[in-house]
Amino acid sequence: MTDIASTKGGFSTAAGGDAPAQTRPNTRKVFVKTYGCQMNVYDSQRMGDALAGEGYEPTLVIEEADLVLLNTCHIREKAAEKIYSELGRIRDMKAERATRGLETRVAVAGCVAQAEGREIIARAPVVDLVIGPQTYHRLPQALARVSDGEKVVETDYAVEDKFAELPKSDRRQISGRGVTAFLTVQEGCDKFCTFCVVPYTRGAEVSRPFAQLIDEARRLAEAGVREVTLLGQNVNAWDGEDEAGRPIGLGGLLHRLADIPGLARLRYTTSHPRDMDGELVAAHRDLPGLMPYLHLPVQSGSDTILKAMNRKHTADEYLRLLDTIRAARPDIALSGDFIVGFPGESEADFEATMNLVRTVRYASAFTFKYSPRPGTPGAEMDGHLSEAVKDERLQALNALLRQHQTEFAQSLVGKRLSVLIEKPGRHPGQIAGRSPYLQPVVLPEEIGVIGDIVEATITSTGPNSLLAEGMTKPVAQFQSPQEAPTMRSVA
Ligand code: 5AD
Ligand code: SF4
Repeated sequence: MTDIASTKGGFSTAAGGDAPAQTRPNTRKVFVKTYGCQMNVYDSQRMGDALAGEGYEPTLVIEEADLVLLNTCHIREKAAEKIYSELGRIRDMKAERATRGLETRVAVAGCVAQAEGREIIARAPVVDLVIGPQTYHRLPQALARVSDGEKVVETDYAVEDKFAELPKSDRRQISGRGVTAFLTVQEGCDKFCTFCVVPYTRGAEVSRPFAQLIDEARRLAEAGVREVTLLGQNVNAWDGEDEAGRPIGLGGLLHRLADIPGLARLRYTTSHPRDMDGELVAAHRDLPGLMPYLHLPVQSGSDTILKAMNRKHTADEYLRLLDTIRAARPDIALSGDFIVGFPGESEADFEATMNLVRTVRYASAFTFKYSPRPGTPGAEMDGHLSEAVKDERLQALNALLRQHQTEFAQSLVGKRLSVLIEKPGRHPGQIAGRSPYLQPVVLPEEIGVIGDIVEATITSTGPNSLLAEGMTKPVAQFQSPQEAPTMRSVA
């Protein structure tokens, strides 16, 4: 799954102006910091909802937090090390608060918690609670044990369904987070790419039940969400049974979500090439609300490296899959993940990656230097490369990808795109939204209000955004979800 920048501060309700108008005298405050992928963002929100039920209010100011919760990422070494330096700063802050007679609890959640367990408390005794991603529904009870003076480690794989047990987000919590939302549909991974810790930290693939997802998506739509991004480490491996007990895959789920009034846009991430089945490809042809933007990581363009990575496909198979997807949805834009400097990667292997990039012309991409992760087969392989070689390759790859990204953005100038308005612009008179290709778009504010989907002509490109003018009427103005059109009626 694609990394995002760490999200500082409280869960998004704090930033969304969703805090109660008055602070109850004995309300406790929680500061949540999220690292890593979108799934962690979703998990932080659900933990925030669970904590709200326990009387915790979000804060963006760590110094005033009675509970600090770090939702961590273990995907690369740097990501994990960041947690320990943050815990050092939290230790000092806890000591300072103690001089004012204030208690501070510290919890570490996420993949570092799962991977390192009790070791975290040994290395950072400031931590009171270590809780893995499969047991978030036990957070309130675990905190109660912490209050009794215990150090608590909860990293078992729970037998019960955590999503069924976690409290549902209420309308106020959802709408405080804006008009776009994440919805985790699948967790874990059975692919075992040899560089990756996910199968160890998130466990085996589990799909959330169909009915639970439809219910959650309806609740999101009823609270004003217009765009839902389905999340999973291997999202296109999602499977389930519909209400009639018939087997259904991600393509079928997308069709059913497209029928929910109010939801105008759907996305899903992250997919594995091996799990792009015909039904899912056809959904890109048949569902106008399924955005023509697909994150489909390939990691490398060399068959030797793909084999060593255990990706289970060749470069040519990937390219042929893209042909099929482009035949179904000619305007689709692609995004990818790449690792440079996997053990044994030769100059020729790297050049094969550059060639694949030249062939595909990605609209955007995420690139990483290989980082050996303890316990993964890659870490034990021969032929580890120096940081200097990894740096050099990363720079060359980034330059090529950046060039394609810029050219893609420039190719949109003069075109009309649908834009979902998400928030006020940075400058007066502006409003900000996203293109179908996830690019930020800056528009004049008279074009519409947050939640509208407008058609806009792109007039120029900025460093990281598109600028639009000459807008016409909204194509899907937001009324109440009941009156709102479904995606099928929004061309
Ligand atoms: N080293 C470097 N990059 C990695 N990724 C996953 N594991 C590693 C690793 N050990 C990258 C992959 C994946 C993305 C989320 O992170 O490109 O798709
Ligand atoms: Fe990791 Fe590979 Fe699974 Fe993606 S498909 S989560 S890279 S093991």
